[in-house]
Amino acid sequence: MTTTATAHTNIALIKYWGKKDPIFNLPTTSSLSLTLNEFYTQTTVSVNPLADELMINGQAFDSTRTHRFLDMLRDQLGDFAPLTVTSENHVPTGAGLASSASAFAALTGAVTRELGLDLSLAELSRLARRGSGSASRSFYGHFAIWHEGHDDVSSFAESLNAPAMPIALVVAEVSTATKKVGSTEGMRRAATSPDYGTWVKNSNTQLKDMLAAIQASDLEKIGTIAEANALAMHDLNLTARDAPFTYFTPETTQILTLVADMRRQGLLAYATLDAGPNVKIITSQAQAPSIVAQLQAALPALHLEIATSGAGIHYD
Ligand code: DP6
Repeated sequence: MTTTATAHTNIALIKYWGKKDPIFNLPTTSSLSLTLNEFYTQTTVSVNPLADELMINGQAFDSTRTHRFLDMLRDQLGDFAPLTVTSENHVPTGAGLASSASAFAALTGAVTRELGLDLSLAELSRLARRGSGSASRSFYGHFAIWHEGHDDVSSFAESLNAPAMPIALVVAEVSTATKKVGSTEGMRRAATSPDYGTWVKNSNTQLKDMLAAIQASDLEKIGTIAEANALAMHDLNLTARDAPFTYFTPETTQILTLVADMRRQGLLAYATLDAGPNVKIITSQAQAPSIVAQLQAALPALHLEIATSGAGIHYD
C-alpha cells in the first residue's frame, strides 16, 4: 500500500521566532499564517523492506531531522515498519520560504494515513510541530493560528474560519542559495537580544489586532500589522547578544524601499520576510500584477511569483 498527501506551505503574518522548549518545539508566542496555494509538497510513503529511505525531488536524501522525526512518530504512534518516503517539493528551498512547513505536514499526514490512523487535524498539527514548528499550521486552508500552549498537548494550530478575501502575496525571490543561519539557530540567537521580551509582548498585542483585522477582511490593517511584526523579528537578529546576524542582502533592502515607495503611490503593499532574504509582499489580487510590474521594471533579474490563499492538507 502507498499513501500520498499534499500540504501547502504557509506564510506567517505573526511570526514564530523563538522556542520555550526546543525538544517539543513549544514556541514563545502564538503565531498566525496564511496557507499558500502555489507552493506545496506532495509526499508518498510505502513500506520499505530494509530501512527508512528518503527521496526528495527524485534524489536520495539523508536528513537526520527527518529520520529522527520518523522515530519520534514510532515512539508516539507505536512502532511501524521502515518506510520509503518520496517527496516532490514545489517550494523554492532554503531561501526563506519555509519548505519544512509543507514537508513535515505532508509527511505526518501520509505516514498516519498509511498506518490506517484517522487523526484529527489538531492531532496531526501537534505531531508535525515536532518536525518543524511552522508545519503545525500547514494542515489548514486560508488562515491558521498556532496556539503556543504550555506543553505537548496544548500547543497546536487550528483554522481561523476567516471570511474569504482577495488577499495575495507577491514573492520576490532574491536568492535561491541555501540560507546561512537556519531557523532553529536564528531563533536561539534572537532570544539573546535585549529586546526579545518586548517583541514577545508586542507580538501578543499584534496577534489580537490581526485577528480583528482578518475578521474585518481589512487588507491594509493585515499588511500593516504583519510588516511591523516581521521587521521587529528581524531587528532581534541584528541586536542578538550572541552572534548578531541578518538575513537581509542589499537587494532585500532595495525591495523594502520599493515597497514603501509603492505604498506612497497609493498601492496596497506591505512586506514580510522569514529566515531568508526573500521579500513577500502582502497585497490584493487586483493589485498584485502592478506590484510585479513595478518590481520587475526596477530589478529586471528578480524572480517574482504571485501566491494566493490555499487549501489544507489533502490526500490522493
Ligand atoms: C521565520 O518552523 O522553520 O518562518 O521549528 O526550528 O523548524 P523550526 O523552525 P521553522 O521556523 C519558521 C520561522 C519563520 C516564521 C514562521 O513561519 O512563523
